[in-house]
Amino acid sequence: MSEQEIYPVPTAWADHARFDAAGYDTLYGRSLADPGSFWLEQARRLDWIKRPEIAGDWSFDEADFHISWFADGKLNVAANCLDRHLATRGDQLALIWEPDDPAEEPRRFTYRALHAEVCRFANVLKAQGAKKGDRVTIYMPMIPEAAFAILACARIGAIHSVVFGGFSPEALAGRITDCDSTILVTADEGRRGGKRIPLKANADAAAARAPALQTMIVVRATGGDVAMQDGRDVWYHDAVADVPATCPAEPMGAEDPLFILYTSGSTGSPKGVLHSSGGYLLWVSLTHEWCFDYRPGDVWWCAADLGWVTGHSYILYGPLANGATTLMYEGLPTWPDASRIWQVVDRHRVHTLYTAPTALRALMKDGDGFVHATDRRSLKLLGTVGEPINPEAWRWYHDVVGEGRCPIIDTWWQTETGGALIAPMPGATALKPGSATTPMPGVDPQLVDPEGQVLTGATSGNLVIARSWPGQMRTLWGDHARFFQTYFSTYPGKYFTGDGARRDADGYWWITGRVDDVINVSGHRMGTAEVESALVLHARVAEAAVVGMPHEIKGQGIYAYVTLNSGETASDELRAELINWVRTEIGPIAAPDKLQFAPGLPKTRSGKIMRRILRKIAEGDVSSLGDTSTLADPAVVDDLVAQRVA
Ligand code: WTA
Repeated sequence: MSEQEIYPVPTAWADHARFDAAGYDTLYGRSLADPGSFWLEQARRLDWIKRPEIAGDWSFDEADFHISWFADGKLNVAANCLDRHLATRGDQLALIWEPDDPAEEPRRFTYRALHAEVCRFANVLKAQGAKKGDRVTIYMPMIPEAAFAILACARIGAIHSVVFGGFSPEALAGRITDCDSTILVTADEGRRGGKRIPLKANADAAAARAPALQTMIVVRATGGDVAMQDGRDVWYHDAVADVPATCPAEPMGAEDPLFILYTSGSTGSPKGVLHSSGGYLLWVSLTHEWCFDYRPGDVWWCAADLGWVTGHSYILYGPLANGATTLMYEGLPTWPDASRIWQVVDRHRVHTLYTAPTALRALMKDGDGFVHATDRRSLKLLGTVGEPINPEAWRWYHDVVGEGRCPIIDTWWQTETGGALIAPMPGATALKPGSATTPMPGVDPQLVDPEGQVLTGATSGNLVIARSWPGQMRTLWGDHARFFQTYFSTYPGKYFTGDGARRDADGYWWITGRVDDVINVSGHRMGTAEVESALVLHARVAEAAVVGMPHEIKGQGIYAYVTLNSGETASDELRAELINWVRTEIGPIAAPDKLQFAPGLPKTRSGKIMRRILRKIAEGDVSSLGDTSTLADPAVVDDLVAQRVA
């Protein structure tokens, strides 16, 4: 990573963007010097039913732990995303939907049309008994109805919990049960890359394990054959037939929950990250404008899935709050071929594309021809998120895709942070390939050593955030103690991100990746503990240990070590069976890339598995295993090295 490779702000951007370098400095300085008035002023960009007079009220200290923003304000998030645009841009496109199959027609919704669809969906939810504060689980393909359902929840004040359509029935059931959701919104089937995903069948299997579930609203997406259960399942097209296209927006306190999104942690089951209404919406709206300098008329494409936080914040809430035209894509970046992304860019004249490094690496591998075959002249900005971007992919994005014209906006953030915390502003920030550059206004990142000492100057350490920002998560659903414990107990008084980082001599931030037991597979978080729990559920498995390993396309892959019950014999068939087992227990993204049978695992005398050693072996770095003398049985290491799966 070269700190010296600098891409200055293009003159046109410096002249025309909302903020130039001096503008950023002033904004950032004010945000930290006088946060109260700074944030109340920023909050005016939202449409409040009652405008707040209090900004941040928070303490990260255990004795007085609390986080709240704009607590006396009232608003409705869906009204901010829809109703307030009707007078000025009712006939402007709000949502463009690009289908999986390029031969099919896109669907387009103006703000007026989207407003009506969301109101109808809201009325269907209400007719099924949903009301303010209820949890509604959404398990949907990437179709417009998923967006309607999400915004409909926001409209009536129900808390949505979107579960990625690639998760298994088991994973879905766990998430339904954890937040006591009685309503599930799903579809007959999903489609991706020409393949069908049996969502309704998965939902049925999940329902069998989630007794609290009472109602399933089923959208007909493909027309595939599905079983409907009397008294529980409702076809959306039937239910929507006789509801009105208007629905009052529920007045919500700024601190009322907007959504829960489950994400993997280093230990235990997935955590229900809870976001608020006012602070979250302000954060995603502001960062969408600051990082991407969104201008009216621009077509904005965030190529994420609504099942992840990136989809929540930058397909829907941020862009719609800003009155943008947002594009949502049903399919895969590489199907029917590696030109598809660029064809979609051309088809809809996309101005800003926001995607993940893993997609870029996959496309890069297929060569520049697929890019050159397209025009891409509509593009003016390119964004990336999800994992550290390797400078090679950065340069390819910049030079080949953007033909040197488009700044690369590398945004570092997390499910927990709501929106981008460290990222460039195109008119203000010179770029360095591989660096997320500098903090957003109000964000106070610091590096600490393992003892919690704050490190200064150009150095590396663990990344913490020293003060609250409006988009910060508020709690873990049902487990406030775990919220404090996970994020605020390691370095008292600070939010611990779980990431390591380096700050260079120019004050630029370089995220180096997770320092906990979370693996980042293709930009998706997977907890090692989750994969291990799935493996040990198998009748023939005694013990499992899972670590991350470098992977050319995915960034990180999953390497599993499995100890079988005595009497069981290792075989290639069993290996395939176990990998498939994880796939069905959690979902394809959790399936181990490599699985090694290990008669013994390297444990300390107190029984703790030494993952450091397992990581080294998985990486193939067996010459520097470090001190193994504290192991209960150092000989297991030789055996593991000998049996390593290359
Ligand atoms: C990683 C996704 C480097 C990081 C928005 C973080 C990144 C985790 C970047 C959160 C980036 C995300 N550069 N690393 N630009 N963006 N990460 O919750 O390790 O799915 O902690 O949120 O992804 O993943 P999550």
